[in-house]
Amino acid sequence: MKSGTTAFQAGDSGKRGGGATRRPPQATKERAARARRGSRFNAVALYTEGRRRRGDGSGGYNPTAGEPMQREVIFILDFGSQYTQLIARRLREMQVYSEILPPGTKVDTLAARRPVGIVLSGGPDSVHQRGAPRCDPRVFDLGVPMVGICYGMQLMSHLLGGEVKRSGRREYGQAVFSPRPGGTLFRGLPPRSRVWMSHGDDIRRAPKGFVVVGESDTNPIAAIEDAGRRLYGMMFHPEVVHSEEGAKVLANFIDVCGCRRDWNAASFVEEATERIAAQVGPKGRVICALSGGVDSSVAALLVHRAVGARLTCVFVDNGLLRKDEAAQVRRRFAERLRLKVVFVDASKRFLARLAGVSDPERKRKIIGREFIEAFKASMGRTGRAEFLAQGTLYPDVIESTSVRGPSAVIKSHHNVGGLPRSLKFTLVEPLRCLFKDEVRKVGLELGLDEEFIYRQPFPGPGLAVRCLGPVSGERLALLREADAVLIEEIKAAGLYRKMWQSFAVLLPVRSVGVMGDDRTYQYTIALRAVESLDGMTADWVRLPYDLLARVSSRIVNEVRGINRVVYDVSTKPPSTIEWE
Ligand code: XMP
Repeated sequence: MKSGTTAFQAGDSGKRGGGATRRPPQATKERAARARRGSRFNAVALYTEGRRRRGDGSGGYNPTAGEPMQREVIFILDFGSQYTQLIARRLREMQVYSEILPPGTKVDTLAARRPVGIVLSGGPDSVHQRGAPRCDPRVFDLGVPMVGICYGMQLMSHLLGGEVKRSGRREYGQAVFSPRPGGTLFRGLPPRSRVWMSHGDDIRRAPKGFVVVGESDTNPIAAIEDAGRRLYGMMFHPEVVHSEEGAKVLANFIDVCGCRRDWNAASFVEEATERIAAQVGPKGRVICALSGGVDSSVAALLVHRAVGARLTCVFVDNGLLRKDEAAQVRRRFAERLRLKVVFVDASKRFLARLAGVSDPERKRKIIGREFIEAFKASMGRTGRAEFLAQGTLYPDVIESTSVRGPSAVIKSHHNVGGLPRSLKFTLVEPLRCLFKDEVRKVGLELGLDEEFIYRQPFPGPGLAVRCLGPVSGERLALLREADAVLIEEIKAAGLYRKMWQSFAVLLPVRSVGVMGDDRTYQYTIALRAVESLDGMTADWVRLPYDLLARVSSRIVNEVRGINRVVYDVSTKPPSTIEWE
């Protein structure tokens, strides 16, 4: 890693401030032309084709955005493994840009992007199964180093004339791997190390030209290679942490590929700036709806770096934000980072539309609709623009085009806040090749403060889905104050960044209490604090009792209208993280 740059490495939060205000470099004509050519013929465009056909509301996908120009890339052909994204993340942590493509990506498409290496991912199928995903066999003739992992190795063996047999038993979990001397990807490995296996079929005979370079305690052919053609395969998953030497194996592969290892937050910012400048052109104008979250903020800062004052941001205050949030957006983005922000105070209108509505899905629909109305209404103040910047992230892109189609687990209700296609903007999506933690590093690189960057997720419909029953200004005010107390105490205890989310929920029940000599009949606050990796599953945090006691006592004493505090001890599933 070069000094002064922020690498996309886990745990690295190095920072180079002030980037957002630097002037954009002038994109050369040639680069602009390359970006435009790329937009029509690149592999990403093909991968996202299905998304457009499905008409999933992603809104006029523009393939130029997120399309790297001349950076070195390792492609991962995705055969459906649950670990495919992890492979990409591991390679990127080693500062090599990697991208996931569908298994059947045409060899010409791959060649046009000039990859330095290709990974064939694992997958749940058997190569003998009908309809099992395959790659174009000509990829093996591209002359670039390739490694097949698990199903990827089996497919490589199968397509190149080896013998793959059903083993009759599934090897799943830990195993011990022993490399044989000379295996290129196992240089520097100890004679025995723990690896993670997950496969049903075995290699019975390696293809012609290959030698066996490793065995496991249960499998005599656990790794193969054809060093001359630089083709490698292993039955275990080097990308998962349970494979002790996995990082070393991937690093060896990167070395075989001859990578420069120069992809990091700073180089991404430079490339993204040039790409945006090329896409928007010298006169184009861009609008960005700031949500107050990290993704739209980082997208806006990148666009600002590329086009300066030709970016106008819109911030809609829907009246459902946390305490002081709108003021913080003003201070951070308009005053400190000097973005042009049109503030729309639509809170009265939102609350009027939500009056008397208890059903969570109706709340979401109303909020989604009103957001679009408020955004449209703001256009009189923003002026004309052809482009709309959005903070779409890589997992959304992969999700909607994955080998098995869009994941069923994503709830449609999480799309609140999207803008309809009818608005006729061309999308600028500078983050569409990044994972969330990479976006955070880019945000730091662009001068955003850590407190903002590491904020816990907050749902688009805001406090409306934490104010159970009908939403009103008065009840929201109670919730806001209680929530602020909880967050303040969690931060003071040094726990804020250790958990996925922590927040207060206002319940629509009142109960009896006693304060001084008076009987009270007031609302109840539920506290929720959860640990989670991705929001899909979650466990409640075992908060210290004295912290709970402090929060409870402060809320009941400081928030007039609350006389009872309870702690939510439900996991997801079967509960959800939010209460609505
Ligand atoms: P649930 O409640 O489904 O939440 O377990 C999982 C994660 O998603 C967030 N969430 C939302 N985010 N719009 C959003 O942008 C929504 O409507 C929404 N509902 C839930 C939730 O905060 C958690 O992180």
